[in-house]
Amino acid sequence: MTDTTSNKMWGGRFAAGPDAIMEAINASISFDQRMAAQDIAGSRAHAAMLAAQNIINDSDADAIREGLLTVLSEIEGGTFNYSTALEDIHMNVEARLKEIIGEPAGRLHTGRSRNDQVATDFKLWVRDQFDAAETGLLALIKALLGQADAGAGWVMPGFTHLQTAQPVTWGHHMMAYVEMFGRDLSRMRDARARMNESPLGAAALAGTSFPIDREMTAQALGFDRPSANSLDAVSDRDFALEFLSAASICAMHLSRFAEELVIWSSAQFRFVTLSDRFSTGSSIMPQKKNPDAAELIRAKIGRIMGANVALMMVMKGLPLAYSKDMQEDKEQVFDAADNLMLALAAMEGMVKDMSANCDSLAAAAGSGFSTATDLADWLVRVLGLPFRDAHHITGSLVALAEKQGCDLPDLTIEQMKSAHDGITVDVFDVLGVENSVNSRMSYGGTAPEQVRKQIARWKGLVG
Ligand code: ARG
Repeated sequence: MTDTTSNKMWGGRFAAGPDAIMEAINASISFDQRMAAQDIAGSRAHAAMLAAQNIINDSDADAIREGLLTVLSEIEGGTFNYSTALEDIHMNVEARLKEIIGEPAGRLHTGRSRNDQVATDFKLWVRDQFDAAETGLLALIKALLGQADAGAGWVMPGFTHLQTAQPVTWGHHMMAYVEMFGRDLSRMRDARARMNESPLGAAALAGTSFPIDREMTAQALGFDRPSANSLDAVSDRDFALEFLSAASICAMHLSRFAEELVIWSSAQFRFVTLSDRFSTGSSIMPQKKNPDAAELIRAKIGRIMGANVALMMVMKGLPLAYSKDMQEDKEQVFDAADNLMLALAAMEGMVKDMSANCDSLAAAAGSGFSTATDLADWLVRVLGLPFRDAHHITGSLVALAEKQGCDLPDLTIEQMKSAHDGITVDVFDVLGVENSVNSRMSYGGTAPEQVRKQIARWKGLVG
């Protein structure tokens, strides 16, 4: 639609309205309506402050604050008519306020600009996402602690290069993810604390000549303080970038865990059984139970990291202060946040519901010469050999077992002695996987006793 009337908000300088294509590229209302509640909260705080500072009178402020609640209820009730001609959520709300309360609505925009307004709204929206991520991460960590608690002593193979390395415990493996998601939690908390400064009152870029009280609006909106430089305040999108980068790292962790669940739930591994609630079937192959949730979680990093890169590219090279490029900041953040929260919730559900197949885990733990390191360590500890020699002797025994088609504990004492005649039957004690994991008592090691200490520590941290 090409409108020949000029814009209501700045029509004074304009003789003609925008071209339809201009309107299409310029308007953000289709997506920034997600910030309606934040916009109204910001405007209500601003109006109260203007009255407290005697910049507008109390009755105008009351009318504005009440009218904004009416607008909010229309939006929440789904009866609000969004207009593309009014560009964005800020002007849509203000125009509707004018229809409802008349002349006082025109006083709301005193001492502020859409530049500090949008920065404030977006910050409030992103701040909620930090909080939602914290909630989601805490729930996932608790689900992992539940699994770790149940299986602190269950043995399974530990891998490097996805080749059997040494036996570990299920609890230890679950707790590795607790550490990862725990760092995500701490990154989200750090970034939230850093971003919690109010841009409101920075106005267009230079501040304002009105005697505003930025402390008051900051406090009303739950910010720790007003931001200290008005140029920075309207042009800063670090908070969104920090959210996206913390979200990307978290999504990368989710993706790694999802990949393990895909592998573990395969018929070849059978380490875990995923619940029906988080699996799908195949329309053609009746035997199939597919780990779709895990696969989708594995993929979410693509769009979340994509959003991170996209916003970084939008922001690079922008001169101070506000540029319209920055309107391109929102959609990607909305999408990334939605998908991070969904992925966290789906992972939490899968972890809570999945059951480890202890027998398969134990059988796999003992295969693949997983206790070869224990044998080498025994040669060092008991026979006093240098580790390099012990490594070589053990390697020859692995080769022998491989040739015989058996595992290390199945070799006879004579066969053992053929590699080094100091070896005694005591060596068989260390070749069992239970003994192997129990012996890994170093701090942070896989021994169930160590794992239980970490579980207790984390329970103390997350409640
Ligand atoms: N819709 C705009 C945005 O998202 C609001 C700020 C517009 N400011 C301006 N000076 N045109 O960035």
